[in-house]
Amino acid sequence: FHVDWDLMTAEKAGFDHFMLKEINEQPKAYRDTMRGRISEDGRSVALPELKITAEQLKGINRVHIVACGTALHAGLVGKNVIESLVRIPVETDVASEYRYRSPIITPDTLVIVVSQSGETADTLAALREAQRCGARVLAITNVVGSSVAREADDVIITLAGPEIAVASTKAYSSQLIAFFLFGLYWAQVVGKQDEAAVSHVLSAMQALPEQVEKILAQAEVLKEVAESISHHSSLFFIGRGVDYAVAMEGSLKLKEISYIHSEAYAAGELKHGTLALIEEGTPVIALLTQEELYEKMLSNIKETKARGADVLGIVNEGHESEIAKSVDRYFSIPRTLPLLTPALSVIPLQLISYYASLALGHDVDKPRNLAKSVTVE
Ligand code: G6P
Repeated sequence: FHVDWDLMTAEKAGFDHFMLKEINEQPKAYRDTMRGRISEDGRSVALPELKITAEQLKGINRVHIVACGTALHAGLVGKNVIESLVRIPVETDVASEYRYRSPIITPDTLVIVVSQSGETADTLAALREAQRCGARVLAITNVVGSSVAREADDVIITLAGPEIAVASTKAYSSQLIAFFLFGLYWAQVVGKQDEAAVSHVLSAMQALPEQVEKILAQAEVLKEVAESISHHSSLFFIGRGVDYAVAMEGSLKLKEISYIHSEAYAAGELKHGTLALIEEGTPVIALLTQEELYEKMLSNIKETKARGADVLGIVNEGHESEIAKSVDRYFSIPRTLPLLTPALSVIPLQLISYYASLALGHDVDKPRNLAKSVTVE
């Protein structure tokens, strides 16, 4: 009697790759990251790990979010979250740029660094620079005891669990959950959102894990989409608002593991630049989760269709009929609050990248020229 067994296979828990396993672990990662941080009555956020006091939060007048790669993209969503809940200006910057541009850091600036590993050299250097200039630093990281966690003044740990695949999935989406929690906490302690508003968002957040499960159950549909995309050498992701931030992450994911060139564009900006690159059959993935922007998005989609684009729309459930006529195919995601949609809309994009990489026969978990954690500047 012989059983083929090795540690790696066992750790993949029946999945072909770590990336697919980690994509599927997102409902658990969301639940774990929220657990104990939402009051039992669902009306408030508790982040007892924070040392920053309500008084100190009241004194913060600007935020800089600094990170690299996928964590940077979580930071772009974080900007939208904090600006909309707390109404304080937020800048999101690439860590390797931030440090060298003499950023204007005042004592009322809060610097938020985001890092899965907590060891990225550029992020760590930005953290140190921010502290040297007198700012308080909050870290959002997945690794307890990492350099970033040790050096930051405050830490919110994402409870995504170990992430092995080089392409980040569950760490990114857990960073979004951390931003939702922190944004709500801040808004609540400084009185920017009342209890009813906070509990409204919290109840929508608590529905997210099950909504992700619904998306994951439709993964097969995305396999077909990915296979058709894999024959192309270039594609575009477009969106507005938080959809643009998610488009950037979708584009990075695809480039990282399938090596297909893609660009993310703020949908309204395409006509000011690279619309000319859209030819007959060019795949366009359009994110359409922000209802107040539908009309504008549909006109941007029309511009791409006029040049022959083959458009996949990522749309809200229940709104398919408004959009179906304007796109070639669509994939529906469950309804949530507009600000929370990135936690759902990123999932189909992760699956499309995964299946495209698979279709092309690449090493999904260990893409060429990339490291999980980059400890040189
Ligand atoms: C590397 C990885 C990316 C990751 C980035 C930041 O470039 O390949 O997937 O997003 O580092 O990593 P961090 O651990 O700081 O989130």
